Amino acid sequence: MAWLQRLGYRLIRPVLFALDAESTHERLLAWLERTQGSAWQTLYQLPRTHDPLSLAGLQFPNRVGLAAGLDKSARCLPAMSAMGFGFAEVGSVAPQGESWPARPRLFRLPQAKALINRIGYHREGLDSFVPALRQAREQLGEPGPEVMKLGVNIAHNVATPPERALSDHARCLRAVYPLADYVTINLSRPRVQGGPSEASGMAMPEWLQQIDTLRLALQDQHGRALPLFLKISPDLDEAQAGELAQALLDHIQSPAGKTLRWGLIATNTSADRTELSGLRHGAEPGGLSGLPLRTRSNQMITRFRQALGPDVPIIGVGGILSAGDALAKLHAGADLVQLYTGLIYRGPALVSEVARELAQARARATAPSTG
Ligand SMILES: Cc1cc2nc3c(=O)[nH]c(=O)nc-3n(C[C@H](O)[C@H](O)[C@H](O)COP(=O)(O)O)c2cc1C
Repeated sequence: MAWLQRLGYRLIRPVLFALDAESTHERLLAWLERTQGSAWQTLYQLPRTHDPLSLAGLQFPNRVGLAAGLDKSARCLPAMSAMGFGFAEVGSVAPQGESWPARPRLFRLPQAKALINRIGYHREGLDSFVPALRQAREQLGEPGPEVMKLGVNIAHNVATPPERALSDHARCLRAVYPLADYVTINLSRPRVQGGPSEASGMAMPEWLQQIDTLRLALQDQHGRALPLFLKISPDLDEAQAGELAQALLDHIQSPAGKTLRWGLIATNTSADRTELSGLRHGAEPGGLSGLPLRTRSNQMITRFRQALGPDVPIIGVGGILSAGDALAKLHAGADLVQLYTGLIYRGPALVSEVARELAQARARATAPSTG
């Protein structure tokens, strides 16, 4: 019934787009929260495509995930599972709540199939995020290969001086470790100049080592290994990208790093505006997502896949509005993909469309040749 949902969303979209973008977002999330698990869920439910992938020590039911920022507070995970996602990432959350700039802070650019946002991280911080995460975990049920995987995206507070960023990351990691299937550390706050070393407050080799010392302690405490991902900006210059790739590679190949799993999420939103000249809202400050980000994100994936070799997991995100866009991410070197802006423009049917196409592409690639 994906066609019915596609048609339904096409009909309802003008109504949704008539409202201010953030109000629509809030209302939709509130509606999803209210309706998940009820009969109303059939309006957005689709069978989950079976396209399992074992990656970073996890069994993903399929290769399509929800990107961070849409369900910042982990309110709607049963709804996301019903839409057929193979994994979903909640947050970003930092230790303290973040105050957001005044409205409007989310803008649609329909001609470019893009969004610009300057919405901050979780508003209340860890104290209110963790109980919601615990509840979401219970709602998803016993972990298993067919259950949607749950990622948690953590960050340091905007006000934290760079030299104390690690202590924010450590606080968040300790708090979410027992509840997450994987954790993403967001080193790519949009609109902040500099590469990962600036974002993490220290040279990357030292930061990676410190995080892994903590990770080993948490692994012992909880009896469970947890993969970590770094989320990167599409705006890294060649030197910054090279420095990060080298640090990650050296770390992963070191005796200490060999036993622990690191991956990459490419990419976050961009500060670049080159494709938006003349468009309404095109000059708004904030992070750009959607179609204009697609090529930059793919270039970053290619760049890091070449540098890191075949074994480091990469999740590709940025500008997926069709199954073809997702396939291009896999061709660039990604193992899994995530969506955000595409959902706003295409509706929930995009999830099954992408998941099905990726599954079919894999079946085609592994089918015995008849020629
Ligand atoms: C409104 C909005 C809020 C976002 N918030 C976060 C966030 O809190 N943390 C994060 O890592 N990424 C955040 N993102 C970035 C997305 O996770 C994703 O990396 C980016 O939007 C590119 O994917 P897309 O083109 O499919 O939207 C946000 C994106 C949008 C549009």
